[in-house]
Amino acid sequence: SGPLRTHAAARGKFIGFAAATSPLANEAAYRTIAQTEFSQITAENVMKWDTTESSDNNWNFSGADQIVAFAAANNQQVHGHTLVWHSQTPGWVQGLGATAMRSAMQDHISTLVGRYANNASVVSWDVVNEVFEENGNFRSSFWYNTLGQSFIADAFRYARAADPDARLCINDYNVEGINAKSTAMYNLVQSLRAQNVPVDCVGFQGHLATQYGFPSDLQQNMQRFAALGVQVRVTELDVRIQMPRTSAKDATQATYYSNVINACLAVTACAGVTIWGFTDKYSWVPDTFPSEGAALLYDANYQQKPAYTAVHNALDNG
Ligand code: G3I
Repeated sequence: SGPLRTHAAARGKFIGFAAATSPLANEAAYRTIAQTEFSQITAENVMKWDTTESSDNNWNFSGADQIVAFAAANNQQVHGHTLVWHSQTPGWVQGLGATAMRSAMQDHISTLVGRYANNASVVSWDVVNEVFEENGNFRSSFWYNTLGQSFIADAFRYARAADPDARLCINDYNVEGINAKSTAMYNLVQSLRAQNVPVDCVGFQGHLATQYGFPSDLQQNMQRFAALGVQVRVTELDVRIQMPRTSAKDATQATYYSNVINACLAVTACAGVTIWGFTDKYSWVPDTFPSEGAALLYDANYQQKPAYTAVHNALDNG
């Protein structure tokens, strides 16, 4: 018994969730679980560029402020997501030339990170997100194609200047196991740190699917990053299944969840695990993978699933 956050804290870890702003404002059941069970919040969408600065210097902090206020009221931390990404970035940025794009990036980071720099709840940021292709090449994004790989170091330096105390992360998906993509990330982090670029943290998103198997070298992979001197964390965990749910699929999913928690518990440098939502009522999965879903800890009626019990038990005794 006892909420997840109590058990996580006893192990020295955070347990987070990605928040959708509408139910956070409007649904008591959502709000109650959000404040009771979790110690950290990531905004699922509202700190992204297309929400915060949809046109040049036209700022909208309403959703971001809502999440930060909720966190402060409930003694929770906020992980900022995300500053520089190829997705959910408005067209006005994508069309700029190199000099203007770099300066738009600096302005965006300074203003957004600067807004929360003295806020005790906001403790970390995803500075760059998803900069690699699956084969380990840099992703062919408008950032890379306009600025070359220097945009990555610049983004970290701008973020450090805007908030010297925030923990600054690089974040990606399909980097949970040891593979070409995670090795490219490893090499980049090593090289950036050798150049004194302020990369403090590596985020493994953890969008898992039972049909693809569990990345059994997750712990080993986290450990090799930790040896570079960075903190590691799981930032966007969910475990989707092919619908419909069955008790066998629920059980497999629960095992994946406990495996992730146990890997983080086994690595001192792992700060915690964030789940990409908590109720199957609000999840990106069915919109993206129409025959898949049920990826989270609670069903659409806010009933705990075996995955919840697995996370709870792993934090409690794992
Ligand atoms: O807000 C608009 C609404 O006005 C419009 O009517 C509706 C119709 O399409 O779209 C709404 O925007 C959607 C937005 O979520 C808010 O619900 C976008 O279409 C939709 O694309 C967007 O999806 C988000 C996705 O990132 C975009 O890439 C998901 O909610 C969010 O969970 C997902 O999160 C990402 C992480 O940021 C990075 N890692 C992968 C992860 C999963 O894709």
